[in-house]
Amino acid sequence: MSVSYENSGHAVMHLARAASLAPSPHNSQPWFFAEEGHDHGFEVHADAGHRMLLTDPGGREMVIACGAALFNARTAVRHLGFQPAVDLLPEPGNPGFLARVRFAAHAPSTPEEAAFAAAMAQRHTHRGPFTCAPLPEGLLDDLHEHARVEGAVLRVLDEPEDLDVLAQLVRTAEDVHRADPGHIWEVRRGVGSDGIPVEACRYHPDCTLLAGRDYLDLARRYLVPARRRGQGTGVVATLSTPRDDRQDWLRSGQALQRVLLASAARGVMAAFHTQPLELPALRAVLRRRVTAGNFPQLVLRLGHPAQTWSSPRRAPSDVLVRDGAPAGR
Ligand SMILES: Cc1cc2nc3c(=O)[nH]c(=O)nc-3n(C[C@H](O)[C@H](O)[C@H](O)COP(=O)(O)O)c2cc1C
Repeated sequence: MSVSYENSGHAVMHLARAASLAPSPHNSQPWFFAEEGHDHGFEVHADAGHRMLLTDPGGREMVIACGAALFNARTAVRHLGFQPAVDLLPEPGNPGFLARVRFAAHAPSTPEEAAFAAAMAQRHTHRGPFTCAPLPEGLLDDLHEHARVEGAVLRVLDEPEDLDVLAQLVRTAEDVHRADPGHIWEVRRGVGSDGIPVEACRYHPDCTLLAGRDYLDLARRYLVPARRRGQGTGVVATLSTPRDDRQDWLRSGQALQRVLLASAARGVMAAFHTQPLELPALRAVLRRRVTAGNFPQLVLRLGHPAQTWSSPRRAPSDVLVRDGAPAGR
């Protein structure tokens, strides 16, 4: 079914804009989108040219980011009043073609879906401490369900022993990354006018229980006073899947974005700590000791930030391909 939208092609541009708001490693935006006919369908493709070669050699995080973009596209279709019909990995011989979204039956969006749509532009990644405000009542139960519906498991770590294990793994991974010149280069390159804003990296990366990426080389120059360490960590959670293939990476991305939007709709933002998932030996320990044999895909902290910063995106016309050429040309 095609959409009766005032100007043919506008719905797809709307989807591209929404999909582009998804999170991605170092704001790499490793995707492009394609229009199938005029508003007949919307394709999500991985753009390996934007993959973080050292952080993400296997492309797992790239596909997760595209899965998050897919969830935003689904949300935008709902916002337009249609059900999305989604095919994952529609062409087996073309692994970069990750999903096709078509407009199916007409159905007005629910209040929850409307809140997700509104939250897309309000959601921002946080780095550093959260305020001490508790999470809204019932939010964690909702988030477990949101992850489950998308085929992933959200686990909140509330036992000190589990938090210790995870904190050690993040610390070890971050130390390995900080000692690797190639990695340092890739992380620093992510900050700037078309990447992560400098202000969004202003907190010391070691100030919470989970070490953060050192985007601005702060750790070598400044120490965090012992009395302030670990404060404002917020709620720590992992997202995992039963398998570790492209399908499950796409599911993780959709689950991630659903969790992020449901949180943002209630004023809660997330910080990411995915460093140990980038080193196979540490990821294996995390899998065994923290996610009960499931494959860990994301490590998050959730809380209320005192302030947020938005990261710029490429224009929708630069990431949307029509008739084989960027839509803006
Ligand atoms: C798979 C994945 C891994 C990420 N890992 C980290 C991380 O380890 N540290 C971090 O600060 N941000 C991480 N991010 C968040 C990105 O830096 C962030 O999404 C990007 O800069 C865009 O900013 P925004 O989320 O505020 O729109 C990750 C995002 C994704 C999708």
